[in-house]
Amino acid sequence: MSRRKQIYEGKAKILYEGPEPGTLVQYFKDDATAFNAQKKATLDGKGVLNNRISEFVMIRLGEIGIPTHFIKRLNMREQLIKKVEIIPLEVICRNVAAGTMSKRLGIEEGEKLPRSIVEFCLKRDDLGDPLIAEEHIHAFGWATHAELDEMIAMTLRINDYLQGMFSGIGINLIDFKIEFGRLSTETGDHQVVLADEISPDSCRLWDRETNKKLDKDRFRRDLGDVTEAYTEVATRLGILQSNPPQGKPTLSVVSNDE
Ligand code: C5P
Repeated sequence: MSRRKQIYEGKAKILYEGPEPGTLVQYFKDDATAFNAQKKATLDGKGVLNNRISEFVMIRLGEIGIPTHFIKRLNMREQLIKKVEIIPLEVICRNVAAGTMSKRLGIEEGEKLPRSIVEFCLKRDDLGDPLIAEEHIHAFGWATHAELDEMIAMTLRINDYLQGMFSGIGINLIDFKIEFGRLSTETGDHQVVLADEISPDSCRLWDRETNKKLDKDRFRRDLGDVTEAYTEVATRLGILQSNPPQGKPTLSVVSNDE
C-alpha cells in the first residue's frame, strides 16, 4: 500500500491513486467516529464488513440503472472506483423519524414519517455538516438545478429499492446518507453518479421484529456489539456464510479475493 499515492484520508476511508487514469482505490478502515469525530474507536473488522456490504449494495443499484462510482472489489478492504469530483453535499433520506430529525423537530424516534423526506447537509466537518435548504445549494452554486433534480430522483429511487431489499431480510430502512460525484464523460460533459459508500455506517437499519439497531447508532449510543450487528446485516444479505462449523458467521468466506 505504501507504493501507492494517497489522495485523501477521511474518517473511515482512505483514497489512493488507482492503477489506471480516472480510477481510485477506496480503502475501508476499521476506524469509527461519531459526533464530528469527538468520539473515536477502532472496531475490528468493520472496514471488511462495510467494503462487502457497500459492494453488494452498489452492484444491486447498478443493476437497476443507478450510475455509481463502483468498478469492482479488489480485496477484503479495498475497491476500485471511478474518480469523481465529489459534490459537497450529504443527501439524507428518511422514512422514519430518528437522530437529528427527532431532536430538531421533537418527533419521537420510530414514528413513521408521512412520506419519505430528502434533506441536504453541507459537507463541512469544521461546521459540523449543517443542514441546508435547496435555496442555499442554488445560491452558492454547490450544484446546478439539473444536478439537484437528478440527485433527488436518484435518492428516492435508491430509497425505494433499498427499502424493498432490506424488508426482504427483515430489516426496516429508517434513513440513510449518500453522496454524489461528477464523473467527466468522454464528450467533456459531467454525469452525476452515486459515490462514497452505503453501509451500516451510513444507514439506520432496525430489525423489523424487535427494532434492534443494526447500524452505527450502536457505536454512537454505546449499545455494544457493533461489528456483530454489521455482521448480522451482511449475513442476512447473503454475503457471509451463516452456518460455519461453530455456528458463528465468519468474514473469510464467500470471497474470491485477488
Ligand atoms: O444524524 P442524522 O439523524 O442526521 O443521520 C441521518 C442518517 O445519515 C443516518 O443514517 C446517519 O447514519 C447518516 N449520516 C451519515 N454521515 C453523517 C451524518 C449522517 O452517514 N455525517
